[in-house]
Amino acid sequence: MSALAPQMVRFTVNGQGVEVDAAGDVPLLAVLRGELGLTGSRFGCGLEQCGACTVLVDGEPAYACSRPAWSVADRSVATIEAAEHDLVLAALRRAFLDEQAGQCGYCLSGIILSARALLAREPSPDRPAIVAALDRHLCRCGAHNRIVRAVQRAAARLAEEVAP
Ligand code: FES
Ligand code: FES
Repeated sequence: MSALAPQMVRFTVNGQGVEVDAAGDVPLLAVLRGELGLTGSRFGCGLEQCGACTVLVDGEPAYACSRPAWSVADRSVATIEAAEHDLVLAALRRAFLDEQAGQCGYCLSGIILSARALLAREPSPDRPAIVAALDRHLCRCGAHNRIVRAVQRAAARLAEEVAP
């Protein structure tokens, strides 16, 4: 069997430019975790059913398990590791800790990124908006109510921080 020829692709991850081998249809998740060492994004089902692999592509949630890495050429990808320099992501992460929103935590990086996209377009979402935004995610630990409360807490805290 012959090896696939390298197909180098450039994109931005968490503000840093990268160039990776995206030969064939290697999934974005494999590149993020395996080549770039960004292991916060998780593999769950591999079938766009659980949301554990969710990252942001140009600010919108995307399933990294099924999306070929070549498809993000010249685009901007964010993973949970961006919380080190993104105030909204950091506020979400803090609120999830405060609410103890999660047990095993496996689902949380994807959920927090989808919540980040929600807060970008709707800074004070009501409960139905949060539930709708997180509909693509499964939490097998059943932490749904605490997860929704955590998003509300982060939104309230961010609103306080920007209040005059
Ligand atoms: S691992 Fe991608 S949706 Fe489940
Ligand atoms: S906290 Fe365990 S799957 Fe959500």
